[in-house]
Amino acid sequence: MTRTPNIRQESDSYAVTAEFYDILQADEDEARVRRLYGREIAEARSGVLDIGAGTGRVTMLALADSWADVHAVEPARAMRTSLLTRLATLPAEQRDRVTVHPHPLDETALHAVADVAVCHNMIGCLPPAVRGRLWSAISRALTPGGSLFVQLPPARLPVRTVVRLLTDKRVGAHVYGGRMTMSAAGYRIRTRADYWVRTADDVLREHTETFWMWPATRARLVGELAPHGFVPLPGRDDSELLAVALRGRR
Ligand SMILES: C[S@@+](CC[C@H](N)C(=O)[O-])C[C@H]1O[C@@H](n2cnc3c(N)ncnc32)[C@H](O)[C@@H]1O
Repeated sequence: MTRTPNIRQESDSYAVTAEFYDILQADEDEARVRRLYGREIAEARSGVLDIGAGTGRVTMLALADSWADVHAVEPARAMRTSLLTRLATLPAEQRDRVTVHPHPLDETALHAVADVAVCHNMIGCLPPAVRGRLWSAISRALTPGGSLFVQLPPARLPVRTVVRLLTDKRVGAHVYGGRMTMSAAGYRIRTRADYWVRTADDVLREHTETFWMWPATRARLVGELAPHGFVPLPGRDDSELLAVALRGRR
């Protein structure tokens, strides 16, 4: 019997950003991903869950450095396009181990599929109520004793506007550049991403995309996770990272 496909509204977030994401950020971020999660990913046994996989930085590391199955959850079509393009270049042995889920994690039916879960650079993008649904979905998707690694979002609102210039990257005759501008707006952080492509003489294109972020302290996240069965993992003190484990034997 053929199942009717699930028709849902596609997220068009990252429609602008996806083109510039890896060219401007991959090098620096690849090193960070390896440093933050490399050891646990390499030791994963049943599966790695990459929540908000984006263009696949954590997913690619998991496929290369572990033998576990990988679940890459990515609702935004633009980011998923880059992810699938990257997966298409992999040898069959690696491609057969990865499943891409095109919806938010709480809309997937993943149960006890992984012993390692990673939220890299994504928790800050979720309002508190959505975070709550995510914690519940992660606790279902992990096996008992499984670990969750969360890259911490900004702890508080910026007191003044913060501008971060991304390092220029040359592609042939063109130079790609970008800038992130973060400012407080009520209880949220408005993050404006500006991108451009230029030659030595001219700006060829300019694009902008705005994101909202919600700050949260480590203590607040630990408090939110506790009712879902998560306890802090000792020995993983890193200023950027929250490491917790789901109670129960592995
Ligand atoms: C800033 S991007 C980071 C992507 C990737 N983790 C990286 O660091 O390169 C955040 C990603 O989280 C995804 N996302 C947002 N809400 C999500 C949810 N509820 N479940 C899974 N992914 C989600 C977005 O579509 C987006 O691609």
